[in-house]
Amino acid sequence: MSDDVINPQDVDLSRRKFLIAATTATGAVGAVFAAVPFVASWKPSERARAMGAPTEIDLSKLEPGQMVVSSWRRQPIYVVHRTPEMVAALTKNDSQLKDPQSKDSDQPEYAKNEARSVKPEFLVIYAACTHLGCLPKQHFNPGDPVVGADWPGGFFCPCHGSKFDLAGRVFSGSPASTNLRVPPHSFQQQLLVIGVDESAAAVAARVEPASLSSNDPRGVA
Ligand code: FES
Repeated sequence: MSDDVINPQDVDLSRRKFLIAATTATGAVGAVFAAVPFVASWKPSERARAMGAPTEIDLSKLEPGQMVVSSWRRQPIYVVHRTPEMVAALTKNDSQLKDPQSKDSDQPEYAKNEARSVKPEFLVIYAACTHLGCLPKQHFNPGDPVVGADWPGGFFCPCHGSKFDLAGRVFSGSPASTNLRVPPHSFQQQLLVIGVDESAAAVAARVEPASLSSNDPRGVA
């Protein structure tokens, strides 16, 4: 995993564009960290991105209420560390959602639940809006004036106004018809692995000690 980061303002909101321009402005990022729920990005190695290899994210530095932007297979991914309050509030949204049970949405079977996640505290979703592919912005605070007094917290797509809750579920009245998609992912203690399911990770853990050599490409992803 690289320590490279990008500033949230560098995230291009135009359709299908995702700026992965790394910056070394760690001081500026630190300031953002202190002021608001933080958006930054760890980007996988050039080789890993080219091959579509799994993306690994160290979750130990992601505080409750914060979000990190990463990528997998050249697609932006949002990872949110939800607070217990955020998780508890999800149950109140159902009557306002188009697909509260995610029956018509795209996610692995293990994320077909109210929190749409393996671990309720961590949301892992493709950032692309399911309407036309813009990047919804984080508006986590209930009542955010940009979205409205009755806003429960979630994501707001500035392109055409789609709204998603903190599980990426789309609100009724939005032009987007389905929930934000969930990529395959798994956890290895404090490490989030995007692109590898729990079952595949278990298999890899069993075979790796015997088969992984210095020439094995999995060892340098
Ligand atoms: S692209 Fe998000 S609402 Fe249209």
